[in-house]
Amino acid sequence: MDQRFDFVRRSTTRIVVGAGVEARLPELLRELGSDSAIVIHDHAVAPIATRIASAIGARAVLPLAGGEAVKSLAHVGDLASALRTAGATRRTALLALGGGTITDLVGFVAATFLRGVPFVSCPTTTLALCDAALGGKNGVDHGGLKNELGTIRQPDLLVGDVDWLRTLPEPVFREGFVEVVKKAAVLDAQHFARLEQLAPAIARRDTAATDEAIGMAIAMKMAVVLADELEGDRRRWLNFGHTIGHALETLADGALRHGECVAIGMLAECRAAGIAAPVTQRLEALLRVLGAPTAFPRAFAGDDRLWSLVRLDKKVRDGRVPIVVPTTLGAGTEVPLTHTALQQACA
Ligand SMILES: NC(=O)c1ccc[n+]([C@@H]2O[C@H](COP(=O)([O-])OP(=O)(O)OC[C@H]3O[C@@H](n4cnc5c(N)ncnc54)[C@H](O)[C@@H]3O)[C@@H](O)[C@H]2O)c1
Repeated sequence: MDQRFDFVRRSTTRIVVGAGVEARLPELLRELGSDSAIVIHDHAVAPIATRIASAIGARAVLPLAGGEAVKSLAHVGDLASALRTAGATRRTALLALGGGTITDLVGFVAATFLRGVPFVSCPTTTLALCDAALGGKNGVDHGGLKNELGTIRQPDLLVGDVDWLRTLPEPVFREGFVEVVKKAAVLDAQHFARLEQLAPAIARRDTAATDEAIGMAIAMKMAVVLADELEGDRRRWLNFGHTIGHALETLADGALRHGECVAIGMLAECRAAGIAAPVTQRLEALLRVLGAPTAFPRAFAGDDRLWSLVRLDKKVRDGRVPIVVPTTLGAGTEVPLTHTALQQACA
């Protein structure tokens, strides 16, 4: 037998974000149609988890220490056992409350436990709200490799209350907006210009400005995710800054945050691609107002390991290292990154 069956991946995600939306969780869960819920949360947001669990009548509350170490197969197994003990069934929704590490882990468990149970993602960091929790990618690290095991499965419901961000430490709060700048730089000139206006208020952690920037991030990322389902390959646009950024993050070995590396990576990739000064100057100015670093760190300037590291990037094909850069603001173009250009850009 040789037959082919083409399925179109069809799924629906409902996204509810804004100040005070936590109060709507009981009603939103009822509309989801699951018959019970289990809250899995980062210790850092334990008071919010307790409040939510009581409001929705959760079957169990499972706390975890957030951070990259939680994204492991050992945690997947522990969580599956805890879900069994709590009496979870196929109609029990898993509600993940935490940063991108918690939403990645619980998203993976929700996609695989009993071959899939309802998933409610409640991101509590700016990075998770603006990026990690959107688009359905989930997974855990394995064998020293990041996101080595994972699936793509959209959450059934995503709820993000900007009030949850109040307790975020300053560097963690700022980090998520680097990803918003990245998206606007290659996808949407109007959003980029609006971010320039909002940046001082975002830096002051003004709720309305934060809310508006998160709304832009969601609109831009979901447009790409939807287009990707139909056209394929569209997600590569979101890789701006990440090829050099990831290499730098590996070299820095924990000394620099992911968002800091992406900010530095975006500017280095623009230099490597010879992007016109007016574009890079606006990009650099916006990142500065948002408190992101912009200079390539002296400790790694000219480091030969950068080239070996960028060649490990998942997007490398036939030895070519493609990067997406904004030729004009709001319009990304794919160009090859060469060894010489990388050396000059990171000198
Ligand atoms: N799935 C995707 O498409 C995707 C995209 C980008 C990033 N990611 C993943 O996201 C992860 C990073 O996400 P992150 O930056 O949110 O990391 P994180 O989950 O480690 O959270 C950062 C820190 O903030 C703390 N925290 C969380 N919410 C808090 C709150 N409201 N108040 C105070 N502290 C709080 C956490 O305990 C942690 O120490 C990485 O593992 C990355 O691979 C996934």
